[in-house]
Amino acid sequence: MLKGKKIIIGITASIAAYKIPLLVRLLKKAGAEVKIIITPSAKDFVTPLTLSTLSGNPVLSELFDKQDGSWNSHVELGLWADLFLVAPASANTLSKMAHGAADNLLLTSYLSARSPVFIAPAMDLDMYKHPSTKQNIDLLRSFGHYIIEPTEGELASGLCGAGRMEEPEVMFDIIQDFFKKKTKLSGKKVLVSAGPTFEAIDPVRFIGNHSSGKMGFAIADELASRGAIVTLVSGPVNISSTHAHIKRIDVTTAEQMYDACIANFESMDIGIMAAAIADFTPKNVADRKIKKENATPVIELVSTKDVLKEMGRQKKDNQLLIGFALETNDEVANALKKLHKKNLDLIVLNSLQDPGAGFKHATNQVSLIDRNEHIQAFELKNKDDVARDIVNRIEELI
Ligand code: CTP
Repeated sequence: MLKGKKIIIGITASIAAYKIPLLVRLLKKAGAEVKIIITPSAKDFVTPLTLSTLSGNPVLSELFDKQDGSWNSHVELGLWADLFLVAPASANTLSKMAHGAADNLLLTSYLSARSPVFIAPAMDLDMYKHPSTKQNIDLLRSFGHYIIEPTEGELASGLCGAGRMEEPEVMFDIIQDFFKKKTKLSGKKVLVSAGPTFEAIDPVRFIGNHSSGKMGFAIADELASRGAIVTLVSGPVNISSTHAHIKRIDVTTAEQMYDACIANFESMDIGIMAAAIADFTPKNVADRKIKKENATPVIELVSTKDVLKEMGRQKKDNQLLIGFALETNDEVANALKKLHKKNLDLIVLNSLQDPGAGFKHATNQVSLIDRNEHIQAFELKNKDDVARDIVNRIEELI
């Protein structure tokens, strides 16, 4: 699968550079061609001799070769690559990449690259958490680059937290996945919502629902593994996604879900609303815990905004919008009503009448209904397989 694929790895100054020789070995063993560009200060962390031996290519660093005065063409390098990986990416290089600086061979080659770009940040936790680093990462993501998020753990500084560059085996899998599943979804920006929302009654109580988030997370993972750039807006859940380059936005209430989805939908190719968003929220939230000595409270509810309906209203011709319908009766008729009322391209219907379908279960049984009212009914499957069916259908619609 990686046979003959041309991969550039740009290495910057971080202790995590020690992991790159292992990655080079894995890529070479799988048949890829690897060229390495190293920033001058990264040479203190990993030796060019190790890297050139493992990659079978000279390690490049300077714009000009000081020995024979020849020029290392960043344009040729940029065009050569099928994939450009910057790993480890220091805070300094992230900032330069986000703002177009071009003061070394790695950066000029990056600016010339037409291939997909993967970036694996590595730094100390406070540097990683800093708003400027976050902004730079968001900018790089908005260029369509894939961020291989650092993991949590003990850092070289002795501090503990997020900032550890992903392990070489995982980075290898991500690269392999990318080439394996180059599909119509590669590079497509997709917004997925998942999980429940919680609507506060007082500081300790809320109205929620049984959604676990599993269905939405499985869809997000499936999309990401096919090369989509996924933004996952999640209500309060106890699961994490398996894919490193999913951007996750955590929300609690229906209003926050509305704000996050509407703010992001305009720049998306596809929206998939799998979240079980509350339809009603308490009109007033008590600022203190409601005491049982007082009279039994009557909670007045008001309607929340329908996120999907608003997305349907804003939808442009080149966007696809997919909604969910969880029904207990007159399933198809109700789902069709929602499909047309909310201007959807596809609706995923699950019925609480079917055992093993809907909330909480690891399985689900769905029917997919498109704008032409064509119905595709599936058997009961685990949610990962259901996600595959849904994403297959979306690929057909693209
Ligand atoms: N949805 C939404 N905003 C809400 C409620 C629901 O975007 N405030 C979305 C869900 O994410 C789902 C779809 O609308 O994709 C259908 O949700 P559902 O609750 O089944 O339908 P409703 O339109 O709310 O109708 P009803 O509850 O009356 O069946």
